[in-house]
Amino acid sequence: MKVVVVGSINLDLVVQADRFPKVGETMFGTDSKMLPGGKGANQAVAAARLGAEVTMVGCVGNDAYGEIVLKNFQENQVDVSCVKKVAEPTGVAYITIAENDNSIILVQGANACVDRSLIDDSKAQILAADIVITQCEIPLDTIEYLIDLCAENDVCLVLNPAPAPEIDRAHLVKATFLTPNEIEINQLFEQEAELVLQKYPNQIIMTYGANGVRYHDGEKIVEISSYQVPVVDTTGAGDTFNAAFAVAFGQKQDLAAAIDFANLAASKTVQGLGAQSAMPRIEELV
Ligand code: RIB
Repeated sequence: MKVVVVGSINLDLVVQADRFPKVGETMFGTDSKMLPGGKGANQAVAAARLGAEVTMVGCVGNDAYGEIVLKNFQENQVDVSCVKKVAEPTGVAYITIAENDNSIILVQGANACVDRSLIDDSKAQILAADIVITQCEIPLDTIEYLIDLCAENDVCLVLNPAPAPEIDRAHLVKATFLTPNEIEINQLFEQEAELVLQKYPNQIIMTYGANGVRYHDGEKIVEISSYQVPVVDTTGAGDTFNAAFAVAFGQKQDLAAAIDFANLAASKTVQGLGAQSAMPRIEELV
């Protein structure tokens, strides 16, 4: 099963602390780590660990962080033939973990260079994919171009609208699936979530974190519960969810079964520190 992920590649600089600092305050943290991340890269690694043949489309800088993230792709059997090295530095996410939550500042860097020409250069891989996944840490123009390409060629596209883009709605709903959380659905549609789900049955899959997932099956709202597990770090749980959903749906599981599988995979991710460290392999889920 072929998955193409078009999206961001970051190095995550993660610091843990007992609490978030106040504005202007300097305080001690308890640990720090440098970990591969980026919503696109996380989704690519998650899909590969779940057994898909994955190609990543994205950009990194010609720098030390770029080397780290490329090596990580290789270790996870992700094809990097569509990852371009550019003059901008590799994207960096500054992540603070405290008070059972996180805060992230993202410096886009090379991710801003993921443009139409890279989509054109990767067209053969995109059109040959069973499923394409994208998110919104790359330029909006590129996302819209990719949506059109997939729609015109009947390629199944999972669009994870995170962070919520300022995209026109007509364009947005050309994606086969949209996977907003409850905040993103409000930002994108400015309407009550249940009405939006009803308007786009079997297309909008809304995640509620620990409260599960909802979609409309054409007759009613369907709720799929999350797995209740001890949480260490939620970073990357959404990425695992999207990748696992895409892999399961691409393998012809029905919507409810694919979402349940994605919830199970995401529940493994939240039990470890970092976006990718606790992403499960297929053997852990069957
Ligand atoms: O979804 C988690 C990811 O968001 C992190 O890995 C970080 O890079 C940010 O892009």
